[in-house]
Amino acid sequence: MNITTIINFLVDQGELIDESIEQSIEKILKYSPQNELKDRLLAFFKNKFPDVDTTSFFSSFFVNKNNQGRVSILKSHEKNPSKRSVQDFVKYFNIRFKSLEKILKSRSELTGLTSISRIKQKSDRETVSIIGMISDKAETRNGHIMLTLEDLSGSIKVLINKDNKELIDLGKDLSFDEVIGVVGTSGSDIVFSNTIIFPDIPLSKELKKSPYDNYAVFISDFHAGSNVFLKKEFHKVLLWLNAKLGSPAQREIAAKTKYLFIVGDLIEGVGIYPGQENDLEILSTKDQYDYVADLLSKVPKHIKIIICPGNHDVGRIAEPQLPIPSEYAQKLSLMENVILVSNPSYVSIDVSDEFSGIDVLLYHGYSLIYYADAISSIRANGGQKLVDDIMIYLLKRRHLAPSHGATLYVPDTYEDPLVIDPIPDIFATGHIHRAQSKTYRNVTCINCSGWGAITEDQEKRGLEPQPGRIIAVSLKTREVKFMNFNSSKDVSTVAERLANESALAKKNKK
Ligand SMILES: [Fe+2]
Repeated sequence: MNITTIINFLVDQGELIDESIEQSIEKILKYSPQNELKDRLLAFFKNKFPDVDTTSFFSSFFVNKNNQGRVSILKSHEKNPSKRSVQDFVKYFNIRFKSLEKILKSRSELTGLTSISRIKQKSDRETVSIIGMISDKAETRNGHIMLTLEDLSGSIKVLINKDNKELIDLGKDLSFDEVIGVVGTSGSDIVFSNTIIFPDIPLSKELKKSPYDNYAVFISDFHAGSNVFLKKEFHKVLLWLNAKLGSPAQREIAAKTKYLFIVGDLIEGVGIYPGQENDLEILSTKDQYDYVADLLSKVPKHIKIIICPGNHDVGRIAEPQLPIPSEYAQKLSLMENVILVSNPSYVSIDVSDEFSGIDVLLYHGYSLIYYADAISSIRANGGQKLVDDIMIYLLKRRHLAPSHGATLYVPDTYEDPLVIDPIPDIFATGHIHRAQSKTYRNVTCINCSGWGAITEDQEKRGLEPQPGRIIAVSLKTREVKFMNFNSSKDVSTVAERLANESALAKKNKK
């Protein structure tokens, strides 16, 4: 902190500064012991400028070192891939069914559960409850929805009547392979559904708050190495994280930031799509990671940087994606404040002897684009622009990619890494390049903004990016704040971007 910053701040607040004030501040800065500096400055300002809120201004320069919360990795998949057989897919789906069945069994609406094979022995018109995986879904000639539900004992048809408005709306949005509970009336080889139950987040889920006044910041999708990486905008983020940019309140958030999450796609990669070499400024993945490491080396060292991979990063693309391999990203992996985890992964932050931590589920979000199209209500109302609603859809299903085909995955025969269990406090994704957040049953859903201007590839994939934003979460209040570091207009096509760039160039020339 220097005298000019303080004087500028006071002038901004409309205060008249004379020579004696300047000299007094200079003296305090020069002669105060470091551990008393903040208190002495505050006392001076309270006396001389009682109407100016200096508390937040000064806190941005003094990081609270008493907040001792730490990072604990709850789940990060590190297993090496082994050969898989068709049988492994069967086992995997059985494991997935059992995990979600276990969650559904705790739901009070599903009392008196029956296995599907036993329903067939029941007489007509009995009330029954079943849990099953949707193996088929079709619309009947009369506009009802007919599901085929499977459990480990067999399969049965389930009818959703079109005259039950609430139920048919839920039915339209159901996905292949998701596991649901149904309460209904038995018929011959059919169940007429009255209620559909999702594994869901219980209403009793608490809004967990940290005792420490720390912030976590969420970003993703740098696509570093691409020739449209937003360098200038990202450098502003680095300045802000060092409390050298922004309003006093914004600098205060920077000073309180203890965790920086990067939810995948650090680099643009090489050979991801045909003709990509034309969009690259850095031509090797190693150089792209070194560039990221150089950028992140400017993040203050007290901030832990937690990184999961995305589909543009190196390594296998099937989920769970293992942490970014150190042989490709050596500089990054050697940084002492960097923690590399898998995609998906669970990380707890602000953990201490007194506090169990805020649990964060990181998922790059490959399945989000599938569901933007597959869920009829989402598709009809904006698709990818409703990414926060897609995240809520997945939370209700307690699975990151319920349908086979929604993402690429490795069929683990011990557990399904894509099941959402435990329930996180914060669920963070990227991939869609939009900055959005919504809270569902006390789970904060965050989709991170990207750091690349729109490319032909993004345009082809139907992305409408909102690049250059960060999302900060107060761990003490759970308040979510957005900051936009991008001064350019958001565009949804390359042509619009080029038109904007040339208009700006003309303006600058004048
Ligand atoms: Fe991605």
